[in-house]
Amino acid sequence: MIVCHCNVITDHEVREAARKLKEQKGGGVPTPGAVFSHLGKRPKCGGCFPTIIELVYAEHESDSADTANS
Ligand code: FES
Repeated sequence: MIVCHCNVITDHEVREAARKLKEQKGGGVPTPGAVFSHLGKRPKCGGCFPTIIELVYAEHESDSADTANS
């Protein structure tokens, strides 16, 4: 599903970027700006930020749950 229509970014790309950034940052939750920069894109209207934040947190929590269960 496309979450950023200005840059044609999918939810899959956002989740993957969030995962990689989390590894690089040692477990922190990346900002939407960091996700855009990781993908080599620039935000335009910013209308997708709430969705991107939601996806990043969902990814963070699912990852944390995995770690807690292992
Ligand atoms: S929808 Fe993402 S910057 Fe416009």
